[in-house]
Amino acid sequence: MKRLLFHFDTDAHPSVFDCVVGYDGGADHVQGYGGVTPENVGQLVDGTIFTRPLKDKHNTAIFVSGGDMSAGEQVLDAIKKRFFADFRGSVMLDSNGSNTTAAAAVAQITQRSTVKGKRAVVLGGTGPVGLRAALMLAREGAEVLMSSRSWNRSNQACAHLRERYGVDVKPFEANGDDERGALIEAAQIVVAAGAIGVQMLGEKHWRDNSNLEFLSDCNAQPPLGIAGIDMVDKGTQRHGKTVFGAIGVGSLKLTLHRRCIARLFEASNQVLDAEEIYALAKTMA
Ligand SMILES: NC(=O)c1ccc[n+]([C@@H]2O[C@H](COP(=O)([O-])OP(=O)(O)OC[C@H]3O[C@@H](n4cnc5c(N)ncnc54)[C@H](OP(=O)(O)O)[C@@H]3O)[C@@H](O)[C@H]2O)c1
Repeated sequence: MKRLLFHFDTDAHPSVFDCVVGYDGGADHVQGYGGVTPENVGQLVDGTIFTRPLKDKHNTAIFVSGGDMSAGEQVLDAIKKRFFADFRGSVMLDSNGSNTTAAAAVAQITQRSTVKGKRAVVLGGTGPVGLRAALMLAREGAEVLMSSRSWNRSNQACAHLRERYGVDVKPFEANGDDERGALIEAAQIVVAAGAIGVQMLGEKHWRDNSNLEFLSDCNAQPPLGIAGIDMVDKGTQRHGKTVFGAIGVGSLKLTLHRRCIARLFEASNQVLDAEEIYALAKTMA
């Protein structure tokens, strides 16, 4: 029986990246749909749950992605609501690679040191990757600060994390490298999750900071998110800190993403979201 992965994307076009990793993770066929919303996903879900007998249902799985984390969460909620009794399938949420990237970045740090009680700053934290990194760090007991260019956006994002997940993340506005540099002064951990091709910190902003223990940069497109970190750094020592570049994070992210896809086809009752994906990342980091 063919393993079918139905890819529901909240963006207009289903992500090419997620399609490729769907195949590499073991799907025999990936069918992508764009513009998926909580309102229109029900019919798509029905096609996945009414077509195969119970013993074969694990061969049909759902993957949710897109650039808007909140939209992805709402689609996931609608999918779960549509399932009933044995009419269900396994589903994974990974808006813009949010869960797999954040899980890889955070697990690489937490597998080397406890973060409980330490201050972690997530730069560009309002995007999907930053939101998930903030959530995972907060659940590990870190004091998490989220930066955005807008206090309103950061405040809204932190309010969402509190309401949906019960974690406390502190919102901050920081515009430009100097303001972000000031925000990380008392931090032990920095995760840079700003948009692709945007520098969030210069090397001078972290090089001489003796509080810092770990820096992780997710952005692989020059200029890199944190100047002075090489994109292939993976637990590399620089200026007395342990650093990770975007490829150093991305190699684990990709392996994790593929492994999650493979896991979807093992049983028909799994929901792979932040908690489950991070737990798996911790066994792999
Ligand atoms: N290494 C990997 O394997 C991997 C995998 C997936 C993604 N990524 C990378 O992870 C990063 C985060 O992804 P994402 O999808 O969460 O990003 P995103 O949503 O595109 O951007 C994240 C945040 O960056 C801020 N931002 C946008 N333009 C900016 C600018 N000019 N200056 C400062 N801040 C700016 C925005 O926050 P405000 O508007 O609130 O300031 C935005 O919410 C990206 O660099 C992406 O390429 C890496």
